Amino acid sequence: MVEYEMFYSNPTTKAKRSEIRELLKLTRKPEIISFAGGLPSPLSFPVKDIKEICQYVLEKDADVVLQYGPTEGDMSLKEELAKWMEKDNIRVSPEQILITNGSQQGLDLVGKIFLNQGDIIIVEMPTYIGGLQAFNSYMVRMEGVLQDDNGMNMDLLERKLGELKGRGEKPKFIYVVPDFQNPSGVTMPEDRRRKLLELASEYDTMIIEDSPYRELRYTGNQPPPIYSLDTEGRVVSMATFSKIFCPGFRLAWIYGPAPLIDKMVMAKQGIDLCSPSFNQAVAAEFMRRGLLSKHIEKIKEMYKEKRQLMLDSLEKYMPDSVSWTKPEGGLFLWVKLPEDMNTVELLKKAIENNVAYVIGSAFHYDGSGKNTMRLNFSFPSKEQIVEGIKRLSEVIKKEM
Ligand SMILES: Cc1ncc(COP(=O)(O)O)c(C=O)c1O
Repeated sequence: MVEYEMFYSNPTTKAKRSEIRELLKLTRKPEIISFAGGLPSPLSFPVKDIKEICQYVLEKDADVVLQYGPTEGDMSLKEELAKWMEKDNIRVSPEQILITNGSQQGLDLVGKIFLNQGDIIIVEMPTYIGGLQAFNSYMVRMEGVLQDDNGMNMDLLERKLGELKGRGEKPKFIYVVPDFQNPSGVTMPEDRRRKLLELASEYDTMIIEDSPYRELRYTGNQPPPIYSLDTEGRVVSMATFSKIFCPGFRLAWIYGPAPLIDKMVMAKQGIDLCSPSFNQAVAAEFMRRGLLSKHIEKIKEMYKEKRQLMLDSLEKYMPDSVSWTKPEGGLFLWVKLPEDMNTVELLKKAIENNVAYVIGSAFHYDGSGKNTMRLNFSFPSKEQIVEGIKRLSEVIKKEM
């Protein structure tokens, strides 16, 4: 027998099978109402338009769209994206954009160009699980800064940066999901974004702005992207087609200062040569026809109603000691139970009662947040939202 353990790299030896993935397997039974996924509703996929555009690009350009493409990404798609982002006051040239296989690859590329083993990075508490996974594979040390209803708390960040400086240490970057965060649903207002930039400048570190949900705002006003406020070249940002088109295309884009994008292009070459040419051509044509903004309006209408229904159902059924965020967009909201409750224990009972969520501790780099959970409102049907929240409330009440 070969002893495989002897051959593994350090990150692989250290990697643990995710507890949450094991738990989530239990939630796939058909009788379960699941608020656990992070999936867009399949009813939102623009199947008819995609069918027509696939045929069109094949007839027009088969020799290009079925061929390898440049690592940087298809120029016509990048031109469309540069134009698209102007509405948010983001001014980038196509050379400052790299097309990636999902933002998940963008996170890995950020890790590849910035992180050495033992480096420090700062993350929100809670933060996106996939970010934790991507950065953990570079064997970094994480420092967490708690969120409140307005995202990462800037006083706590300032204190953390001061502490690190006192120890002679400097974080490589601060990772934030500023718009309708996954998992909490909260959004960082403009003054915090400006403060974040100020602190990054004062303590000489970078900011990674990961924003898959910015386009999905159902109420209120959108603060400017952190990238658009930066005057020093300290921000690398990413956006994705996953939640505004379809995740199966695995298409996203990362943009930032040209020298950094150039390094990421080199890193991507060694990973996959290029993102799928065909998918890029279809996405570019979808944008060229002006379909993306119309499509986003449709998705927003669909999710806006579901979000309201989940908020109303929580209000109606949950006991007083339970609280939750009221996201103005995105796909998720965040529920807090009394401090002495444990959502890992509770999940088994929830599953017995045919309802599921994601445990909050999975979104904390240090496993804290035991009394929290994430709920998704984009995937379940309206009937499931009402019935599922009713069931979940019963489980919580019984446990109290
Ligand atoms: C905050 C955040 N970043 C990145 C991703 C990855 O998205 P993609 O499908 O573009 O890889 C997600 C997906 O849910 C996310 O929530």
